[in-house]
Amino acid sequence: MGDARMPGILELTPLNPAFNDDPHALLDPLRSQCPVHRDAMAGVFILSKHADVRGTLSDTSMLRSPENAEEAAVMTRRGINREPPPGLEIAPDQPRHSILTMDEPEHMRVREPLAKALYKRVAKSRALVQLVVDGWLDRIGGAKTFDVMDTFAVRVPIDVIARILGVDETRLTEFRAWSEGAILGLHPMPTPEQVERIIACNNALNRYMRGLMAERAAAPRDDLTSDMMALKADGANLTEGEICTNLLALLIGGNLTTTDLIGNAIWLLLTHPEQLAKLKAEPGLINSCVEEVLRYESPVDITGRIAPRDMQVSGCPIHDRASMIMELRAANRDPAAFPEPHRFDIARKDAPHVAFGGGTHLCIGAPLARLEAQVAIPAFFARYPNAQLADPAMKPEWRDLPFFRGLKKLVVAV
Ligand code: HEM
Repeated sequence: MGDARMPGILELTPLNPAFNDDPHALLDPLRSQCPVHRDAMAGVFILSKHADVRGTLSDTSMLRSPENAEEAAVMTRRGINREPPPGLEIAPDQPRHSILTMDEPEHMRVREPLAKALYKRVAKSRALVQLVVDGWLDRIGGAKTFDVMDTFAVRVPIDVIARILGVDETRLTEFRAWSEGAILGLHPMPTPEQVERIIACNNALNRYMRGLMAERAAAPRDDLTSDMMALKADGANLTEGEICTNLLALLIGGNLTTTDLIGNAIWLLLTHPEQLAKLKAEPGLINSCVEEVLRYESPVDITGRIAPRDMQVSGCPIHDRASMIMELRAANRDPAAFPEPHRFDIARKDAPHVAFGGGTHLCIGAPLARLEAQVAIPAFFARYPNAQLADPAMKPEWRDLPFFRGLKKLVVAV
């Protein structure tokens, strides 16, 4: 614990070019030599063993809200006392934080009705996802080379969630632009121009969502916004502000991550042709293929928990209110959980990865992300059976957004 030769949390982000090139060159020694590592500067413990990460995530007594972390947890607590940026319009009943950082019992009060409504929608959305996927493949048209990220992987998730929420066809273009602007808000160090765009896009999304909620309350349609307004009318213990914040959280939380899942999958299959051939020969492998992409190249690096008491992890003392970072990417390549963890194998069985976190905060969008990937990947390779990297010597250029891993570009020749 607290080994100064081990990397701190910021060195486990793309701010460190060595991490961006090969995260596992840093994560493997961290996990084997110091699986519970204290980063004193950030004031966090970094957990990297699969058993520790999984065990801590599934412990329902853990806390999540940054306000509950000790003063020393500067990284976790950053921003909690910060005023909202000037210009950001927030209605008085609107919480600034979604279920992601709420504690029980409030977390479940909001999450339960939302999850129930979302899962019901996702269960009947396969045809919708296929329609969106086919539509974007059609738009690529007869191009012989194109960037898969820009033309496909970025497009599908925004359109799918917009349609699930019930965004008007005529407003889709605006909605896409606002969504892309709001997603910039995930960047910890945006430029002043980006801050301006983030605020403008968040305001536009908030206004639009409030309008949509009012319309659907008056005249319900077949969409998730109507479902949530009906639940509210039936007495669900939720404010309209909470509904708005959390419907928008689905949009922000689900887009970049699912884009990266689709992009990482296409990249991995193109660079592992024997695995692509296996998938083509046995299309039923698509579900385990998606799980293996989530494990092998997880779109999200970390999630957090706060100790509710003095406790131990792998024999290391963790004090009450200490902030813990779960290194999901490291846990997903732990040899104790996955034989030959650095081998990409789409037929891997029984691979309990933690790419979606776990316990009560387990990603609420997991069924939707899986569905989108399970539809988008086969559809892409059916449309472009001869797809290959436009430049076979291409080195992947990973985005530089801390804690997310996805490609800037993926140019293919078809
Ligand atoms: C491949 C795609 C995705 C990945 C890798 C991913 C990853 C994660 C992770 C690691 C967490 C934290 C879980 C924890 O702390 O235990 C999370 C939470 C969350 N995700 Fe996702 N996510 C993805 C897609 C989505 C989608 C499509 C949506 C929305 C439709 C979504 C919405 C959320 C929300 C709202 C939470 C907070 C849940 C809670 O705290 O109760 N995510 N996600």
